Amino acid sequence: SILIAVKALLRWRTAVEPSNPGAALPGPTGLPLVGNLLDLKKPELPVHLAELAKRFGPVYRLRFGCQTLVVLNSTEVIREALVRKWADFAGRPHTFTGEAISFGGKDLSLGDYTPTWKIQRKLVYASLQHCFKTNLEAVVTGEARKLCEEFRNSCGISLDPAHDFSMHVCNIICSLAFRTTFEKDDKDFLEIHACLDEIVQRWGSPSIGALDSFPILRKFPNAAWKSMLAVVQKRDSIVRRYLKQHKDTFQTQEVRDITDTLIKFLRDKEQEEGSSVKGAEEFSEEHVHMAIVDLFVGGTETTASWLAWAVAFLVHRPEVQDRIYSEICEVIGVERLPVYADRDRLPFLNATITEVLRLRPVAPLAIPHATTKDTSVAGYFIPKGVTVIPNLYGAHHDESKWRDPTHFRPERFADATNPRKAAQGIIPFSAGARVCLGETVAKVELFIFTAFLLREFKFLPPDSGELPDLKGNYGIVLKPKPYTVKITPRATLHA
Ligand code: HEM
Repeated sequence: SILIAVKALLRWRTAVEPSNPGAALPGPTGLPLVGNLLDLKKPELPVHLAELAKRFGPVYRLRFGCQTLVVLNSTEVIREALVRKWADFAGRPHTFTGEAISFGGKDLSLGDYTPTWKIQRKLVYASLQHCFKTNLEAVVTGEARKLCEEFRNSCGISLDPAHDFSMHVCNIICSLAFRTTFEKDDKDFLEIHACLDEIVQRWGSPSIGALDSFPILRKFPNAAWKSMLAVVQKRDSIVRRYLKQHKDTFQTQEVRDITDTLIKFLRDKEQEEGSSVKGAEEFSEEHVHMAIVDLFVGGTETTASWLAWAVAFLVHRPEVQDRIYSEICEVIGVERLPVYADRDRLPFLNATITEVLRLRPVAPLAIPHATTKDTSVAGYFIPKGVTVIPNLYGAHHDESKWRDPTHFRPERFADATNPRKAAQGIIPFSAGARVCLGETVAKVELFIFTAFLLREFKFLPPDSGELPDLKGNYGIVLKPKPYTVKITPRATLHA
């Protein structure tokens, strides 16, 4: 049996590692000085990078300034890098702009793979898991109920649901991080929400990105960067205020929320003389601050954009809404509200959620990774310190894997012989050491919100008859263009 195991291992290695060790990475020829910068400035970057993969294969390189980028475009190569060789690809590139907005990289999502980052991630992960086991579903259900109530009051009116999605999803993070929820028109809440929205939008802008690639530009005035720093300052003053309130009322015996978990670690460390945990000495209040910021940034626009995409696609295919509604009525009935434990009994709803995640992975290029040592992908040598972009959008639209990859067809998962296995072909939350920290939270949110909304309402085109544009705006977060829908109540529930 040892011989069989060794043979299987050898077969697996040759399957995932083609025999081109040391071959130079292919890639498009660039222009003098700027290299492939024009490729990186394309408005629909993930789509363009997927197009390049048709010419250069699933792994290729782009150059600009003095930097080389490696782009990964298929599920296989992304999994090889981020899962099989997770430690080699667990880093984040050090960038001028990233460090300027995160106290020098003391950040969960932009922070490099260091012992202190590992502590920060572990603490937040454990805390989110604790929420999952205790109050997460109640918090999500509470927000889904409020959203339905608001939609109930707007029935028959044409409206853009994006803002409502954003507000309710942001409130979930407020609850988990600060054990507080806000009313829709609360001043602090509107301010936090506006700051996050602006940071996510500005962060992807070319004039800010150029500061990282061309250091000389930092010497010149840059209006976009100046207003970004002003928003970051506002963000920090709000977070600082909540952090102070938490520190002032903290009690060791009662850990109220994620912020308390992080404060507790800080306090325990201060009481210990010389912590034995590697990286603990460097863990500071700024790490706590940035972890909270990241939960808001990572957990608001992503889920909210996903909900907006789901409604946009469903308006195009009303029969999918009807099938989900019938499934919910048959399995759960209309007497009670759906709960997360119902998810395995609602295969068509699950297939629809998976299909929206496939078609519109809301973080289409994940967050850039960096190699932590010399390594390889698909047999190509990749040196330490290179920036690596996992093109999740490209992997989800790979024509060799998916039939009609650009079409919205939940049936591809619902009718698969093994739907669970079929869903493993997508990686919307990325994978490995930097896999989305909020994946569990997001999955509960997507299920509960979609089930609540489709059980009670039907989403129709507005009176103008204009269907939502399915092209979207490609930034760090892939958002649909603003659209309006008419929300109508389902007859049985209404009665
Ligand atoms: C990172 C997807 C919701 C928190 C990421 C990444 C992706 C992603 C692709 C980048 C992983 C990488 O760099 O390889 C999504 C999707 C969501 C979602 C599709 C919803 C539909 C959330 C939520 C939270 C969250 C609800 C918070 C509760 C984070 C954080 C990171 C991250 C903190 C940084 C992780 C790290 O660098 O170690 N997410 N996300 N996300 N996400 Fe999410």
